[in-house]
Amino acid sequence: MSEDSRPLIAAVLGWPIEHSKSPLIFAHWFAETGIAGSYKRIAVEPGAFAATLDQLTQAGFRGANITLPHKLTALAAADCASPAAQSIGAANTLVIGPSGEVFADNTDAFGFIENLCAGAPDWRPEAGPALVLGAGGAARAVIHALLDAGVDQVRLTNRTLARTEDLAVHFGTRVVPISWNDRSSAVTGSGVIVNTTSLGMTGQPPLEIALDDAPEDAVVTDIVYVPLETPLLAAARARGLAAVDGLGMLLHQARPGFRAWFGRDVTVTPALRRAVLEAA
Ligand code: ATR
Repeated sequence: MSEDSRPLIAAVLGWPIEHSKSPLIFAHWFAETGIAGSYKRIAVEPGAFAATLDQLTQAGFRGANITLPHKLTALAAADCASPAAQSIGAANTLVIGPSGEVFADNTDAFGFIENLCAGAPDWRPEAGPALVLGAGGAARAVIHALLDAGVDQVRLTNRTLARTEDLAVHFGTRVVPISWNDRSSAVTGSGVIVNTTSLGMTGQPPLEIALDDAPEDAVVTDIVYVPLETPLLAAARARGLAAVDGLGMLLHQARPGFRAWFGRDVTVTPALRRAVLEAA
C-alpha cells in the first residue's frame, strides 16, 4: 500500500466561524505531539458547502470538522457515514480518503460520553433513566450517546413538545417524551440529568428545574460551557450532586478527527482545558 503523500492539513467549516475554538485545540495537540500539521478556519456560506468540500479535496485536505449550519449538508455530501452520524442525522467530522472518498462521522456523541465518564467516573448507565432537556441537534447526539452506552430509558423534555415527540419517533420506545412543565418531577430516579438547551448560557435565562428529588448519586451535566459553571451546575453542587461541565465535550469530540487525519491518539489534559479557557 502506498503512503498517503498529502499534506497534514485539515480545517473547520462553518458560518460564522470566527468563534470556533477548534483551531486552538488542534494547535495544542500539534505542539504536544510534534506533528507539523495545519488546521484552518474556513468560513463557508450557506449554499457553498459542496463546492468548498470539492476544493478541499482537490487541495489534498485530509478532512474537516463541520459546525453550524452545515452539519446536515455534510452528512448528505459524504459517500458513506458512521452509524453514529446516521443515527444522529448530522456529521461534525469528515474524513477525506486519498482517492477523494468522503466518510462522515459524528463525534459529538463520543465527546459527550467521554466527558461524562471522565468527569463522573462513578456514573454507570445502569444508574437509572437519563433525563435530557432540549430537543435540538445537540440533544440528538446526547440521546444517541446515552442509548449506545446502555442507558435503558431516556426521559426527554423540551419547551416545544412536538420536537420531543419527533425524537421519540426517531429513536424508538426507549425515549419517553415528558411535558416541559413536568421536568422537575422527572428528576426523580434519574441517574443523569443533561441540559442540551441554550438556557444558562451567558446572555440567556437560567434553566429552571428543581433538583430536590434527584437521587443522591445522580450526575448533572450541561453542554453549555460559557459560563463553565452554569446556574444548573452550581445548583447541582449546592445539592451535593456530581456536576460535569460542558467544555470537555467540545475537547473530546475533536480527538477522533486528530486520530483520523494525523494518525495519533491525543488526550484531553488540564493543560488543554487551560489553553482553551485562557483564550476565551
Ligand atoms: P442545538 O442544535 O444547538 O441543540 P437548537 O436546535 O436551536 O440548537 O436547540 C436549542 C434548544 O434550546 C431547543 O431544545 C430549544 O427549545 P425549543 O425546541 O422549544 O425551541 C431550547 N431553548 C432555547 N431557548 C429556550 C427557552 N427560553 N426556554 C426553553 N427552551 C429553550
